[in-house]
Amino acid sequence: MPQAPSSVPNSSAANTDSRLPLLQWPRSFGNTSRTDAWWVTPLLVFLGLGGFVVYATWAAFAGTHYRFGPYLSPFYSPEIFGDSPHSWFGPKPGSWPMWLPWSPALLILWAPGGFRLTCYYYRGAYYKAFWADPPSCAVGEPRKSYWGENSLPLIFQNVHRYFLYLALIFLIFLTHDVWQAMWFADPATGQTHFGIGIGTVILAVNVCLLAGYTFGCHSFRHLIGGCRDQLSKSQLSLRAYQCAHCLNRRHMVWAWCSLFSVAFCDVYVRLCSMGVWHDWRIL
Ligand code: FES
Repeated sequence: MPQAPSSVPNSSAANTDSRLPLLQWPRSFGNTSRTDAWWVTPLLVFLGLGGFVVYATWAAFAGTHYRFGPYLSPFYSPEIFGDSPHSWFGPKPGSWPMWLPWSPALLILWAPGGFRLTCYYYRGAYYKAFWADPPSCAVGEPRKSYWGENSLPLIFQNVHRYFLYLALIFLIFLTHDVWQAMWFADPATGQTHFGIGIGTVILAVNVCLLAGYTFGCHSFRHLIGGCRDQLSKSQLSLRAYQCAHCLNRRHMVWAWCSLFSVAFCDVYVRLCSMGVWHDWRIL
C-alpha cells in the first residue's frame, strides 16, 4: 500500500527516503517555508503595545492634567495620595523620598500593568513581537534553548491569577469613577447636580471594555467554574463558566479594545484639562 507523503523529520522512514522533503531543523533566525505575510501581526503588536507602553509611562510620570471636573483618568484611579478632590488620603505623603519621582499613578499602575503583562494572550503576542521567540509559528528564532515558564524568570508569569484578583477590585473603583463622573459642580453655587458629558460616556465605555477583558480572563474562567471536576453539579457555576467562556473566545479583541480605551480616556481627560478639547454635556 503506498505511503502518504510526510514531512515529519524524526520519522526514520522519512529520513531514509530521498524522495521526501526534509525539514531544516533547527531553522536559522527568520527562516521559514511560509509564504504568507507572517510578519504583519508581530509588527502590529510591536507598534501597538510599544506605543501604549511609551504613552502610559509618560502619562504616569507626568503627574498633572489627570482630572477634569468630575472625571479622573483611569491611569490615576484610585488616587490614594494626590492633590485632586478624588484623593483618598490627601496630598503626597511627607515621607516620600526626595530622590524618588512622584506621581499618584506610580502607586497603583503596577497592578493593572502586571495583569496585562502576565495575561495569557499578551504573553503569546509579545513573546513573538518583542523577543522573536519565535517571531511567528514555524519561523526560525534567534536562540536555540527553550526554558519555558517552569523556570526563572518566566515562572513569575504564574502570578497572573493574583493580578486577576486585583484587577477585579480595580473594576469596582473604575465603576465608582463613572458614577462620580455623573455629578458636576455648579461653578456659581458649588452644588453638584446630575449630568452626563461625553467624558462620562467615554469612561463608562472603558469600564465595559475592561469588564469584557477581565471576565474573559482564563484565570477568571477557572476561578468561577473550571476548578470543579463536574461543572453541571452547580447550575450557577455552569452559567458563569459559559459566560466567561463566551467572552474568552474573543479575549484578544477585548484585550486590544480595552487597552486603547484606557489610553484614550487618559488622552480625553488630559486634553480637556489642558483646554485643548471641550467636554460637551449631553444632559
Ligand atoms: Fe488575559 Fe487573564 S488571560 S487577562
